[in-house]
Amino acid sequence: MPLTSKPLSARTWPAFARLVEKHGGIFGGCWCISFHLEPSEGKRGSAAYRAMKEARVREGRAHAALVFDGSDAVGWCQFGPTAELPNIRSKKAYEAGRGQLPDWRITCFFIDRERRGEGIASLALREAVRYIERLGGGTVEGYPEDYADARTSSSFLCSGTLGMFEKAGFRKTRKIAMRRWVVERRIPRARARREAGGA
Ligand SMILES: CC(C)(COP(=O)(O)OP(=O)(O)OC[C@H]1O[C@@H](n2cnc3c(N)ncnc32)[C@H](O)[C@@H]1OP(=O)(O)O)[C@@H](O)C(=O)NCCC(=O)NCCS
Repeated sequence: MPLTSKPLSARTWPAFARLVEKHGGIFGGCWCISFHLEPSEGKRGSAAYRAMKEARVREGRAHAALVFDGSDAVGWCQFGPTAELPNIRSKKAYEAGRGQLPDWRITCFFIDRERRGEGIASLALREAVRYIERLGGGTVEGYPEDYADARTSSSFLCSGTLGMFEKAGFRKTRKIAMRRWVVERRIPRARARREAGGA
């Protein structure tokens, strides 16, 4: 069955939740909430994160391109307006050298552990770019890791790889950690703007 994509929304929440539950809440129960929160908002448990994420999705304050195989979600690429995703990794180094904030951020990927290595993260990234285009475009940043010369634990790659972003038309702007880059792309507004759901 060919893979498809849909935006994360109230309608696709059950499929998203099934994928997260299959993986024990992701990352010790994060429910893909951490990039939405300022560090000052403190730590909570998995049940609280789930409720916070669901509320955000229902209010249209959480975006992602979800990849589906039939009715099963098999991965996602989280994106959103910068104000929706204030927390990034290496934030101190990022803040030290930054100019204007981007309109959008692409912060997190997660692929079903049984489906890795099939290009699903790369597809999710292309779909996130397409949704951003439909939502009006603008400057987009990502914060991937450069592991072109090595394999690493897949959990270190939750913000994607530099190669994935370069293939999707992003260019490196600056380094914020040993292997972590800020990458950027300007995305024009889609000519025939359609609803991107969940937006
Ligand atoms: C990292 C991850 C997103 C990659 O997904 P995927 O669908 O297997 O990725 P793709 O098949 O599209 O491959 C994308 C690129 O990543 C590279 N890659 C994937 N896993 C890698 C690894 N462990 N080490 C180095 N490179 C890796 C691939 O070689 C490919 O490179 P290329 O574009 O130069 O060919 C996936 O392993 C994952 O979900 N990891 C867990 C992330 C996580 O914990 N997220 C939640 C935390 S909050």
